[in-house]
Amino acid sequence: MIPEGLIHAAEILQSAQRVVVSTGAGMSRESGIPTFRDAQEGLWARFNPEELATERGFRTAPARVWGWYAHRRRAIMSCEPHPGHGALVALERLLPELVVVTQNIDGLHQASGSADVIELHGSIRRSKCLDHGHPFAGAFDEEIAGGEDAEQDPPPCPDCGSPLRPDVVWFGEMLPAAATTRAREFAEQCDVMLVVGTSGMVWPAAELPFVAERSGACIIEINPDPSEITRIADVFLQGRAGEVLPALVQALNVLRH
Ligand code: OAD
Repeated sequence: MIPEGLIHAAEILQSAQRVVVSTGAGMSRESGIPTFRDAQEGLWARFNPEELATERGFRTAPARVWGWYAHRRRAIMSCEPHPGHGALVALERLLPELVVVTQNIDGLHQASGSADVIELHGSIRRSKCLDHGHPFAGAFDEEIAGGEDAEQDPPPCPDCGSPLRPDVVWFGEMLPAAATTRAREFAEQCDVMLVVGTSGMVWPAAELPFVAERSGACIIEINPDPSEITRIADVFLQGRAGEVLPALVQALNVLRH
């Protein structure tokens, strides 16, 4: 027996032309990457974002911040996409148009094969220099990286010598303009926004479901707990991304046959 909420969500998706999937840290949780606001194991419960996720924090203690991101990068590189990521790739093949808009910096949607991924908060897989933003996509000698508290001097930019920093959006910084513009256009034009694993607390990413809802889209949310988005959700599928997304694709396949 397929639960009623899943059937309703599958029916909504079946008649959709343009779908946006908006993902947050909960999407990557079952790949082994911690979320930010979980009371016990969330990154911002254990670390101070002022120190680790601001330009000021980096300028104050570059080795501390670079060492923390080197540790995170190494941990993320060893993580694999889970069945929920695979289900989004399957969904993309079943629907006329689907784009993933993610707040995640881990690159797992691309690793699992999603074709169109808009990264709102950058990527930990890339770096750029602090002073000029020169991009740097080379690898680092991870041998010298230690644990999450290990300090490590940021390497110099090969172009200008300024320290390299991760190419992620820190608090107080603008989101990449092209990504934001595209994400907003999709939010305004989609029929359905599927919101997965975000608390909906960080703007402007958190605004996208509200933009979509105001523009007439149906909102489907997947999360084990209610979020800031739940009150505007037409369907709230309570559960984990790695379980609910494959079940949703299965329900859609049942409807189609
Ligand atoms: P949060 O940590 O704020 O929220 C994670 C959400 O995922 C919560 O609503 C959880 O209930 C949910 N969740 C947990 N496990 C899940 C699972 N297995 N399946 C589905 N959902 C699950 O993370 P974000 O909303 O992504 O910004 O946070 C937004 C931004 O805050 C991040 O991009 C980051 C952070 O500061 C930057 O780094 C710029």
